[in-house]
Amino acid sequence: IETVPGTAGILLPPPGYLAGVRALCDKYDILLILDEVMCGFGRTGEWFAFNAFDVVPDLVTFAKGVNSGYIPVGGVIISDAIAHTFTERVFPGGLTYSGHPLASATIVATIETMEDEKVVENAKHIGATVLGPGLEALKAKHSIIGEVRGAGVFWAVEFVTDQVTKQPVDAAWMGKLRSALLAHKLLPFMADNRLHVVPPCVVTEEEAREGLAIIDTVLGELT
Ligand SMILES: Cc1ncc(COP(=O)(O)O)c(C=O)c1O
Repeated sequence: IETVPGTAGILLPPPGYLAGVRALCDKYDILLILDEVMCGFGRTGEWFAFNAFDVVPDLVTFAKGVNSGYIPVGGVIISDAIAHTFTERVFPGGLTYSGHPLASATIVATIETMEDEKVVENAKHIGATVLGPGLEALKAKHSIIGEVRGAGVFWAVEFVTDQVTKQPVDAAWMGKLRSALLAHKLLPFMADNRLHVVPPCVVTEEEAREGLAIIDTVLGELT
């Protein structure tokens, strides 16, 4: 499972949820594989999204943010217990480019730079001080917003026709929102009735505020 499902809606697991999944996995002898391809490497303001929850997975998949996409690369982090099974048994698999030195070097360089430039700390700070409060303020101002949720630089804004019933706006309205945001030079990522606010982990306070101001202006124009 994705620790924080991304394209499905940036759904932060409620307290206890992942610990419950871990307990079920343990009970039925199932491996817990957390997909951190989208939510890992700083996106939620943590190195791994699961760091914010009381859970230790058996395997962790990663890609994208691990090297900011400079070279296509993905991988799996394997717990010691599982890795040790292959000291006595041959792993029945192989890939042409597994462990490719160039791709691996981009990962090392990216992680070092992220540590040096405190990129994960920046993502957390932007979420806590700019995007979180800023999006909540937009929700208080614009009744078309039914919910905002997220962490770090990983947020979803849901648009509704009624804040109580949470009836989603229609696709035509989302199309108008897209066009208006593009007209103001903000490139949106949208899914269903949601705008995903997912700037780079290196975004500055000023840039994040600029983005929020564009969303505010556009919602004022459309409603
Ligand atoms: C959360 C998540 N998991 C897995 C994948 C697939 O990753 P890959 O293309 O490296 O197999 C994606 C790709 O967008 C993703 O967003």
